[in-house]
Amino acid sequence: MAKVSIIGAGMTGSTTAHWLAEREIADVVLVDIIEGMPQGKALDLTEAMPVIGKDAHIFGSNDYADTKGSDIVIITAGLPRKPGMSRDDLLTTNAKIVADVARKTLAQSPDAVFIVLTNPLDVMTYLTWKVTGLPSHRVVGQAGILDSARMRAFVAMETGVSVENIHCYVLGGHGDDMVPLTRHSNIAGVPLNQYLPKEKLDAIVARTRKGGGEIVGLLKKGSAFYAPSAALAQMAEAILKDKHLVVPATSYLDGEYGMHDIFIGVPTVLGRKGVEKVIEYELNDEEMAAFRKSAEHVQSNVAKLTEFGLL
Ligand code: NAI
Ligand code: 2OP
Repeated sequence: MAKVSIIGAGMTGSTTAHWLAEREIADVVLVDIIEGMPQGKALDLTEAMPVIGKDAHIFGSNDYADTKGSDIVIITAGLPRKPGMSRDDLLTTNAKIVADVARKTLAQSPDAVFIVLTNPLDVMTYLTWKVTGLPSHRVVGQAGILDSARMRAFVAMETGVSVENIHCYVLGGHGDDMVPLTRHSNIAGVPLNQYLPKEKLDAIVARTRKGGGEIVGLLKKGSAFYAPSAALAQMAEAILKDKHLVVPATSYLDGEYGMHDIFIGVPTVLGRKGVEKVIEYELNDEEMAAFRKSAEHVQSNVAKLTEFGLL
C-alpha cells in the first residue's frame, strides 16, 4: 500500500485521513505537535475501518521518523483564520511552521510529492518549494478544486442540475481576488451565461470569491474542512493512481500565462510524478487582467516573506 503522511492532524488533516481511508488507497500517518491527539484520531479512524469494510492503516504520531518513505506528504499544519481575519493575516506565523515541517518531512521522504494546504496557500506552496529545494513538479498546492467546487455547488443550488453536470473553473491565487472563469464554465457543455441571467451569475462569482470567509463567519471558530480535505484526497488519489487528472491547482509557472517564478492556481495535470503539465487557457483581456492582479497579490506576499527573512 502507498503511504501518505499528513502533517497537522487538525480539522483538515484528520478529515483528509478519513476521506483517504474510505478510498482504501494508502496507509496514512497523521502527525501533529499536540501529544496524543493524532494518536487518538488515528485509533478512532482505525476502529471505524471494520464498520466500513476497509483495510487502510492509520497511524498517529508526534515523531517525523514515522513518516519515513512517504509517497505523498500533505501539509496542513498551521493556524486557520478567525472571523474578521484574512488568509494573509496568517502569513508569518504559518511560514515558520510550514518551513519547519517541510524540512523535517523532506529528510524522511526525499522522493515524496508535497501537497500544501496551509494558508496563505500560494505563498506557503512557494515557501515549501524553496525550503525543500525539490523540482517544482514535486510541489503543488490545493485551492482551486475547493474554489471551483464552491462555485459548482452554488450553481447547483441555483439551477437544480446535478453537480456532476456542472463544470466550473477558478484560476488565480486563493484569495478574494481569485478569478472564477464564467466563460469557460458550463452545464453539460452549455455555457453558464445561457443558463443564468447576468445578475445571478455575478452573485455566484461574488459568493465563490468570499466562500472561505462565509464558512469562517458561520463556524466562528476555525475554517472549512470537509470540502478542502475532499479536494486534498482527490489530488492524492490522482497522484497515486497516475491518473493524469486535470484539476485547478497551485502550480509553478515558468513562462505559462507569461508569468515566471510564482505558484498560483492554474489547470494542472496531476500524475505519479506530481505536476505533469500546466494547461494554458486562452484568456481574454479582462480575464488576463484579473489573473495578473491576483498574481500581483501573491507576489506581494512572497516579497513580505523575503523582507521578514523567512524566504
Ligand atoms: P486546525 O487548527 O484544525 O489544524 C491545524 C493543526 O496544525 C493543529 O492541530 C496544530 O496543532 C497543528 N500544528 C501547528 N503547528 C504545527 C507544527 N509545527 N507541526 C505539526 N503540526 C502543527 O486547522 P485546519 O482547519 O486544519 O487548517 C489548517 C490550515 O489549512 C490553516 O492554515 C487553514 O487556513 C488552511 N486551509 C487552507 C485551505 C485551502 O484551500 N488552501 C482550506 C482550509 C484550510
Ligand atoms: C477556505 O477557503 C480556509 O482557505 C480556506 O475555506
